[in-house]
Amino acid sequence: MIDTHAHLTEKVLYEDLDNIIKKAKEFGVNDIISVGMTNTHNIRAIKIAEKYENVYATVGIHPNEATREKLDLNLLREQANHKKVIAIGEIGIDLYRNKETLEIQKKYFIKQIKLAMELDLPIIVHSRNSAEVIYDILKDYKGVKGVMHCYSEHPELVSKFIDLGFYISVGGIVTFKSAEVVRDIAKMIPIDRLLIETDAPYLAPMPYRGKRNEPAYVKYTMLKLAEVKNINEKELVNIMRENTYRLFSKMKRKS
Ligand code: NI
Repeated sequence: MIDTHAHLTEKVLYEDLDNIIKKAKEFGVNDIISVGMTNTHNIRAIKIAEKYENVYATVGIHPNEATREKLDLNLLREQANHKKVIAIGEIGIDLYRNKETLEIQKKYFIKQIKLAMELDLPIIVHSRNSAEVIYDILKDYKGVKGVMHCYSEHPELVSKFIDLGFYISVGGIVTFKSAEVVRDIAKMIPIDRLLIETDAPYLAPMPYRGKRNEPAYVKYTMLKLAEVKNINEKELVNIMRENTYRLFSKMKRKS
């Protein structure tokens, strides 16, 4: 399995990395993508990727940081050229937590989309209460590739993001009893566009809901997804691995 979205740079994980990465391997998680979000976290993500062979990094400024963090495109470009930096992210729009900063969020998002296109890297998109706004932006940048991470908004937009060439990533919420919408979304995602993630340390799947999440637990999300998609677990893991390598083409194939 590959955890395509974890925040190993967050203190609760960062302080315990040796154990977390060892446990992930024991659970069958071979690769982890450590997603950046601020200038400090981006640097730290790269350091982790340099230290651990099976960890990759991404760099970007998260929409909820748009008013606090400087967007230095030259720095991001330089970091993105690192051999283990495989995507720009996470970037996007958040109208749940920061409705009043939409204009600056848009500016940051668009500039980072353009950078990803220039570097031919995929983007990792954060969307909260903002899927329509994001769709309207992305459709103007045909050719950019990427993933809607932990997608849990309008199911009717799933096919539109798919038509743009995007992948959709499912996280631990799919295991929650009340998350019928996320299971409906998972059913709608074509199998060749499906990715899996933890978003650790947040959103731990059942039976760890409410606890610290970590890459190992992507396994529980995978088991639930296999049930929802009515597909053999091994086959699902293989397909999602192919999907991950197809989208994040800078990753080094393990098998
Ligand atoms: Ni995230």
